[in-house]
Amino acid sequence: AENKPLAGRKMIVTAGPTHEPIDPVRYIANRSSGKQGYAIARALAKLGAAVTLVSGPTRLPEPEGVTSVQVESAKDMLAATEAALPADAAIFAAAVADWRVASAADQKIKKQDGDLPDLKLAENPDILATISQLSEGRPNLVVGFAAETQNVLENARLKLGRKKCDWIIANDVSPETGTFGGDDNRVHILNGEGNQTLPLMSKEDVATALAARIAEFFHGK
Ligand code: PMT
Repeated sequence: AENKPLAGRKMIVTAGPTHEPIDPVRYIANRSSGKQGYAIARALAKLGAAVTLVSGPTRLPEPEGVTSVQVESAKDMLAATEAALPADAAIFAAAVADWRVASAADQKIKKQDGDLPDLKLAENPDILATISQLSEGRPNLVVGFAAETQNVLENARLKLGRKKCDWIIANDVSPETGTFGGDDNRVHILNGEGNQTLPLMSKEDVATALAARIAEFFHGK
């Protein structure tokens, strides 16, 4: 149908931060609110796609008309993303923690005057790179984000090559931009054909523009 160009297509969207446990009550996290990813899930559903939203902990209500899966850690987010396959497209807007505490404590770590806990970190799986490099069942369109604080386009293009996704949505997350947690975003869409810079707009409008680009990609496929 004209206004449901993504009808019959399955899409996965990741959103929000991850929480990496230190002990039963403490965790490592970041400032992602989930707003950008949730807006993308809604915009794709509006165009008719069957969307699974894999979300880290946020304060946002689950979008209507979308299948939501709530997770905490990067490992859980990878498992939930893999469980949601197959999909025509996957969009990775989550701010996944790059590191977790190598062995989280089973009991609350006690404060012992002057004796500091020695937190050893381990690298988390890269969900975007894992799905981009699937030899079987790779989505036709894999879209990553690049959150940068300097040399935005240059670093984003390096990420596109390294992670082997099809498009990268680059955004500047320097504190003065308010991109993490705020309502607005200015993005650059990078792919094999070049770069397209969108003006500063609401995260809702970024999502609508991105969903339209995705519908264009699948048109006639
Ligand atoms: O949630 P909001 O407050 O609305 O903010 C939106 C946002 C700034 C979080 C979002 O627009 C954004 O940029 N998301 C990606 C954040 C990020 O972690 O970027 P990165 O450059 O570190 O990672 C690059 C890509 O790899 C991302 O698609 C990320 O989801 C993915 N990744 C990273 C690490 C990892 N272990 N697994 C991943 O899948």
